[in-house]
Amino acid sequence: MSQANIFILMAAIPLIFSQSARGKDCVCELQNSDPAFPENKLNNVEFTATQCTENITSEKMTEIDRLVLGLQHRIRQLLENVSMLEREDNGNLYAAVSLRIIELELTEIQDLLDKLNRTTNNYQQLSVKAATELQDMEETMSELENFDQTQVMVKQRENQRIKRDLNRCKEDLNSTSPSPTLISGHCGLGRMVNVSGPKTYSLTVYGTSYSFGAWGRDANPGPGDENKYWLVVLSSSNAYGHFIRQYNSLSTTILGIVPTDTYISSSNPTTNTIQGSNMVVYANALYYNCYNTYSVCQFNMTTRAVSTVALPSDTGYNNKFPFAHLGTTYSYTDMDFTTDESGVYVIYATTSNFGNVIITKVETSNPPVLGQTWTTSLHKKTATNTFMVCGVLYATRYLDKEIEEIFYSYDTKTNEERYDLKINIKKMQTNIKYMNYDPRDHLLYVYSDAYIVTYEIMFT
Ligand SMILES: *[C@@H]1O[C@H](CO)[C@@H](O)[C@H](O)[C@H]1NC(C)=O
Ligand SMILES: *[C@@H]1O[C@H](CO)[C@@H](O)[C@H](O)[C@H]1NC(C)=O
Ligand SMILES: *[C@@H]1O[C@H](CO)[C@@H](O)[C@H](O)[C@H]1NC(C)=O
Ligand SMILES: *[C@@H]1O[C@H](CO)[C@@H](O)[C@H](O)[C@H]1NC(C)=O
Ligand SMILES: *[C@@H]1O[C@H](CO)[C@@H](O)[C@H](O)[C@H]1NC(C)=O
Ligand SMILES: *[C@@H]1O[C@H](CO)[C@@H](O)[C@H](O)[C@H]1NC(C)=O
Repeated sequence: MSQANIFILMAAIPLIFSQSARGKDCVCELQNSDPAFPENKLNNVEFTATQCTENITSEKMTEIDRLVLGLQHRIRQLLENVSMLEREDNGNLYAAVSLRIIELELTEIQDLLDKLNRTTNNYQQLSVKAATELQDMEETMSELENFDQTQVMVKQRENQRIKRDLNRCKEDLNSTSPSPTLISGHCGLGRMVNVSGPKTYSLTVYGTSYSFGAWGRDANPGPGDENKYWLVVLSSSNAYGHFIRQYNSLSTTILGIVPTDTYISSSNPTTNTIQGSNMVVYANALYYNCYNTYSVCQFNMTTRAVSTVALPSDTGYNNKFPFAHLGTTYSYTDMDFTTDESGVYVIYATTSNFGNVIITKVETSNPPVLGQTWTTSLHKKTATNTFMVCGVLYATRYLDKEIEEIFYSYDTKTNEERYDLKINIKKMQTNIKYMNYDPRDHLLYVYSDAYIVTYEIMFT
């Protein structure tokens, strides 16, 4: 928001020069025909916006935290729009159009906020306060816009200054919200030492209706899809899903705004229905356990075509080797798809491997092909989920309602197996139904009893 405000400065103040001769002296009287530009108002808006952002970002793990993610997204988008406009600067139009866009953006930000206000009672005071401030800012912006309409006049010099201010704002934005940094381009991540968070925690637009589901980002997105998020709920019997929902950003995912739904089939379940929650999206295709078979399904979200490849015929499916902990099995979790830096894997168990976990690389060609395979000694039913980072499989188990423990790892490069990891994950809900690592942001995406949660993985 603060970035946006700066744009008003483009309005230059027309001045009237009058000259009068008084004896030998030549005096210039400077007379402003219009009201002075209310720069202090702008400064106030800017200051409030900055303060508001600072206050809010310090509140971790709250609804507000997620709102800020949304706002930051909007601001980033606004910055993009603005730099685009700058490149296309053509005089007066520039300022007028910019202001209109800023206005639209503010309306959208207000929408995000309203929606947030409806979804939570937590931190309501802060939320209401922020809303009021945004409202004020919006009003001030309209005032300023009215002022501007009579005085639009663009000057190159001022544009330069705006550009500078924008960059400063961008830097501020960068420093107030550090995104998880990639340590290196290849897999030199070091040893996983801890999982911190939750970083974000939210119900979906479905509320608590669906306790099984999956979500995340495409691990290998096409151009333009980098910021998209997907969500699949098992809407039939906690076991079957038949469409994938996509959102343009994390904030819209959380708030449930303008999704795109892509259906595999209109009925559920039927041939090629999604069975079980442990699926992934890679290069705009969904990989999952196909309904009632031991096959891997690849659903091309562009063409809506499904291609399949069968696992060994003694592979467990239909609850033969699901994830479990004492007394509870997670229905239809026989197959777990995971992504890491090198692609897609399927984690499953076979009778010939005594119900122990097998890792198979899935080559993401069309149709998909099974690649290299590793057999482990991890009994599938003793784990609650798995994920892979840099070619290492990690398995979790249920410790208690609050804690899930990463206890096991299998390194596919060295074939080394360990059962002594003690990395705790702080749960917000009792059961983790889905877990996957996103190699792009190093976050664990978790679906936990209808809640969508992210955690940050720490490496040495
Ligand atoms: C931010 O927090 C400070 C200190 O708690 C407070 O004085 C100020 O009013 C807050 N500003 C906003 C915009 O909420
Ligand atoms: C602003 O930028 C976003 C992408 O960053 C784009 O989708 C949107 O159409 C742009 N809006 C305008 C008004 O140019
Ligand atoms: C947020 O919700 C509360 C109660 O639900 C309401 O009193 C308040 O006016 C709302 N605030 C905004 C800005 O909509
Ligand atoms: C913000 O951070 C990103 C990623 O670290 C970097 O590419 C970009 O140049 C930074 N922008 C500014 C204005 O510092
Ligand atoms: C792991 O992260 C948690 C939460 O951030 C923290 O409390 C704990 O001290 C960390 N443990 C280690 C070994 O770094
Ligand atoms: C999905 O279909 C598109 C369009 O035909 C194609 O370019 C892409 O390679 C397909 N993806 C997979 C994984 O087959």
